[in-house]
Amino acid sequence: MTLASTTPTVCTVSGTTLTLVAAGTCTLTADQAGNTGYAAAPQVVRSFTVAAAPVVVAPSATNGKVLYNTAFNGSSCASCHSTMPSLNLSKVLKGANSPSTILNAINQNKGGMGVLAGKLTTQNLDDIAAYLAQPTL
Ligand code: HEC
Repeated sequence: MTLASTTPTVCTVSGTTLTLVAAGTCTLTADQAGNTGYAAAPQVVRSFTVAAAPVVVAPSATNGKVLYNTAFNGSSCASCHSTMPSLNLSKVLKGANSPSTILNAINQNKGGMGVLAGKLTTQNLDDIAAYLAQPTL
């Protein structure tokens, strides 16, 4: 049996080892030659999608600082926790490198933080958590 790729810019085959090269549609053919006892098998063709890896955006403490000071629904982190998070007012530094702590506090409406519910994306929370890990930035 012989495996081959008809889309070598997306995937290549060496023996029975398939290597993904790029995002796109990978199409493979399988051929089985005949011999004196057997007829050749009809060629089998299969295709599948090779998806690109998700783009991972590293948290930005600098952007987190902007968000920390931005009002949503009239309230910002700074308006309740002071513009200097290093003071750790109302335990804000528990959110350092911990976006889930911030999200849980919002969802549980700790100290009225529920006002921010639905206002911050996952990336926003990651950025703010990165800023709280460098609160004197
Ligand atoms: C309306 C005022 C208010 C706003 C707005 C607010 N907080 Fe808070 N936050 C508080 C208070 C008060 C507490 C302490 C609550 C308690 O101890 O029960 C608190 C607690 C926390 C905690 C500790 C949670 C815990 O598990 O103990 C973190 C972390 C935090 N806030 C981060 C933030 C961040 C980041 C923002 C902005 C995205 C923010 N807060 C916005 C008032 C606020």
